[in-house]
Amino acid sequence: MSRTKVTIAGLKAKKDAGQKITMLTAYDFYTAAMIDQAGVDTILIGDSLGMVVLGYTSTVPVTMDEMLHHCKAVRRGTEFAFLIGDMPFMSYNVSREEAIRNAGRFIKEAGCDSVKLEGGTEMAPTVKAVVDAGIPVCAHIGLTPQTATKLSGFKVQGKDAEGARQLIQSARDLDAAGAYMLVMECIPDAIAAEITRAVSIPTIGIGAGPDCDGQVLVTNDVLGLFEKFVPKFVKQYVNLAPQIKAALAEYVREVQDGVFPGPEHGFAIKAEELDKLKG
Ligand code: KIV
Repeated sequence: MSRTKVTIAGLKAKKDAGQKITMLTAYDFYTAAMIDQAGVDTILIGDSLGMVVLGYTSTVPVTMDEMLHHCKAVRRGTEFAFLIGDMPFMSYNVSREEAIRNAGRFIKEAGCDSVKLEGGTEMAPTVKAVVDAGIPVCAHIGLTPQTATKLSGFKVQGKDAEGARQLIQSARDLDAAGAYMLVMECIPDAIAAEITRAVSIPTIGIGAGPDCDGQVLVTNDVLGLFEKFVPKFVKQYVNLAPQIKAALAEYVREVQDGVFPGPEHGFAIKAEELDKLKG
């Protein structure tokens, strides 16, 4: 069957049919193209950009301009996957008007198909406002890295009955507000399964167990490119960083030793032309 562009209806149909939805992050043209070719359903231009590409120590400093710049590159590399632009901290928190304006920039300027924003019940009115403005919103609950300080660190959420009850209520409220999908980060498997049954929209887990409608991971973690730390929920499918470092060190050695470039990497000029030049 020939592949077509992924749609919101297609994602919902997958949930209803019990087919798993796939999501990976991308931040640049060539990685997006490889991910798209791998057959992923959705690509998230996550604000994890700040940590895995820009070298910040958290996602908090990431700006709208940085996000839009990378979203545009991913757009150029993507043919089929549904693109989700992650709204950075304070781009949607001050007022609903500002949230709509900034969400609109992801669609109009960067070519994203939708936006994602973090928060539970308290963000439901903002989600509704952005959706009412015609922009699809993916919600994000559980561990919300932009407000990790408020959560007292990068901790699993919903581990007691009250916390779990609040997560389930948040999921219901965001569904009712019109979100088309829900990311759930670092929550107990059983609570993620309960939420997945409780809402009509697809749920995407990251550290939320196997019973979500789909899964997302940060691509740099999957490929072993981010070496600072590896969260418990990550599966590294390949460990590229040591291979890349070895290749780069070999290049440095070969240039220093005069091994590279070899004759096969150069361009020849005919002997008579060289004679003319000299003569
Ligand atoms: O920024 C990001 O990459 C994310 C995912 C971890 C869900 O929000």
